[in-house]
Amino acid sequence: MLLNFNDQLDNYKLMRQAIIPRPIAWIVTGDRETNIAPFSYFMALTSTPPTMIVSIGEKSTGEPKDTLANIRKSKKCTICMPSESQLQKMHFSSKELNHDESEAELFDIPLDKKLEDFPAMVEGAPVAFFCELFDELEIKGSAHKPIIVEIKQMFINDACFTNRQKLHFEYAPIARIGGDYSFLGEKIAAPKIP
Ligand SMILES: Cc1cc2nc3c(=O)[nH]c(=O)nc-3n(C[C@H](O)[C@H](O)[C@H](O)COP(=O)(O)O)c2cc1C
Repeated sequence: MLLNFNDQLDNYKLMRQAIIPRPIAWIVTGDRETNIAPFSYFMALTSTPPTMIVSIGEKSTGEPKDTLANIRKSKKCTICMPSESQLQKMHFSSKELNHDESEAELFDIPLDKKLEDFPAMVEGAPVAFFCELFDELEIKGSAHKPIIVEIKQMFINDACFTNRQKLHFEYAPIARIGGDYSFLGEKIAAPKIP
């Protein structure tokens, strides 16, 4: 089957089944009302400077999602990488709430304020990136706003290190597969290229 993307296709449905597995950015924003939401249109972009990209859509009301509104305002966010044990809370935190309601309070998601100048991270997340807004892109014809963030500091849970001196670490992430999830299976060593 060959599909022409000019047809009336459900692009989102097709892309989210095919572009897998997607990592999940569990983003914490806001000063007073802490906002938490997961995003899987998310990827590392450049290592120097250390940037990542997240594509954020609109609320059902057509307003910007709280994550985007908060990042535009404070220019900051904390991006946590959820671990397997955090799947349920991460998923629940995708519920659309009013701007003045906090997913942290509603779903009892404990927070850990590591740095004064950045939003707290989710307690227990194996990895977190403390980021500043680098740029916001405009994709003509799209309601999604891709934002580029620059990593300023990174947290790695001590328990994740396999070799601390070499900064080698591992954790058990969650992958987005279509509208569902998966855990990583067997790790396979990269074959030597002859
Ligand atoms: C695993 C997962 C991944 C998601 N990825 C995205 C995404 O990449 N972009 C997006 O706009 N919404 C995404 N969503 C939906 C948002 O999490 C949801 O709209 C949330 O209510 C946004 O919250 P906010 O208004 O507090 O920012 C995703 C939801 C889940 C469960």
